[in-house]
Order: sequence, then C-alpha cells, then structure tokens
Amino acid sequence: MLLSASILSADFARLGGAIREAESAGVDWIHVDVMDGQFVPNITMGPVIVQACQRSTGLPLDVHLMIHEPIRFLPAFEKAGADTITVHVEACTHLHRTLQAIRDLGCSAGVALNPATPVEAVGDVLDLVDLVLVMSVNPGFAGQSFLPSSLPRIRRVRQMLDEAGSQAHLQVDGGLTAETAPAAAEAGARVLAAASAIFMHPDGVAAGVRALRQTVEPSLTK
Ligand code: DX5
Ligand code: ZN
Repeated sequence: MLLSASILSADFARLGGAIREAESAGVDWIHVDVMDGQFVPNITMGPVIVQACQRSTGLPLDVHLMIHEPIRFLPAFEKAGADTITVHVEACTHLHRTLQAIRDLGCSAGVALNPATPVEAVGDVLDLVDLVLVMSVNPGFAGQSFLPSSLPRIRRVRQMLDEAGSQAHLQVDGGLTAETAPAAAEAGARVLAAASAIFMHPDGVAAGVRALRQTVEPSLTK
C-alpha cells in the first residue's frame, strides 16, 4: 500500500518542514491538490508550490489537477517537478489527447473520476494511464466525509484494471482515516491519498501515518 500525503491540510507557513515530517514518517508520495475555482469551488495552488515541494523532498510528487482543460498547464507542472499528473475525466474535452500529452512530457499519467461519473468513462483510456483515481468525496476541500458509495466503484475499477491486464495504480482520495481506509483497501485501492488524517492528526504527522498504515496493512489481500 502506498500513502500519498496531501499537503492541502499542511501548515503553509512552514510547508517544507511539514513535507519533511511526512517523509520521515514514511509516506511514499506527496499529493498536491491544484484547484482553479472553476472546476471545483475552491482555489489552492499552482506550479510554484509544486516547485517548492520539489526543493523540500526527494519523494515523487503526485499532482492532482482539479482544473478545467488541464492540457493548457501540463508543461508548467512538468517543469515544476511533477512526477505523476492526474486529470479529471470531467474536465477534459479531449481526454485521450491530454493523457498522451502527459506521457509525452515524461510524466506518469493519471485519470480521476468524480463520485457521480460512471467508472466506465475511463474504460477506453486504460492503456494510456499509470494511475486511476477514484474520488471518495466531491473534490474541493479537505476534511470531508468518505462516501461509502465509492466502495463498489473502487471494486469495479479494480476489476476493469485486472481484466485489461493493466498495472496502473488504483488511488482513492477523500475522507480516508484509520476508520475508512481499511474498506477502501479491501475494495482494491493500492494508493491512499490523505490530507487531514496525516497533517491534522492530534498527535502529529508521524502518529497519523502510523495509524493509517496499521489499519490498512493487515487487510491487504494481494
Ligand atoms: C479533495 C482533494 C483531496 C483532499 C483530501 O478535493 O483532492 O486530496 O485533500 O483531504 P482529506 O484527506 O482531508 O479528505
Ligand atoms: Zn487530491
């Protein structure tokens, strides 16, 4: 199981320190939530923050673009140091071209699904992706509750990937805590993105990471 720590709940006044704490606690990736105030009702960060993350850590940067027509900004994020760039099915007029453009830049390509989007929407691009992200909240904010309706969706994507013989990562993002993460793992998630459970844990980042890992690792079936 890979843990991707979303900096959305980190203290931006000391971002480098927060990222280094997550790295020492053993997270695998750093998840950067980019929002444009149009695709989602919030505005967060852009390439300059990705660049700042790159200066703070050697961990892979998992950049989640919640922006309209992300194809416009792919080179800027690649240049800033993104390793994986994930775009939303709902935000791309030309999804196929967008995913190809990510790979042409040398990045890993991810495709994300909002909770109401049929998972079949990614069926025809599985050969173009290195990661499928099933959102388990409506994107826009950290700290929301996990939607249980995501569980059958995670299972269906797992099945689609297995049937296609795809090695793509199956990522789940939103509302993951020590309570909800085991069900997501059991449904087939192999990358968990979490903000609050890591950066807002009352006993600190290391305790947050430990709590998540302890609950998901026993439930691993493959
Ligand atoms: C939601 C973002 C998530 C968010 C997760 O729009 O894509 O990555 O930061 O936050 P938590 O883990 O607090 O639900
Ligand atoms: Zn995210």
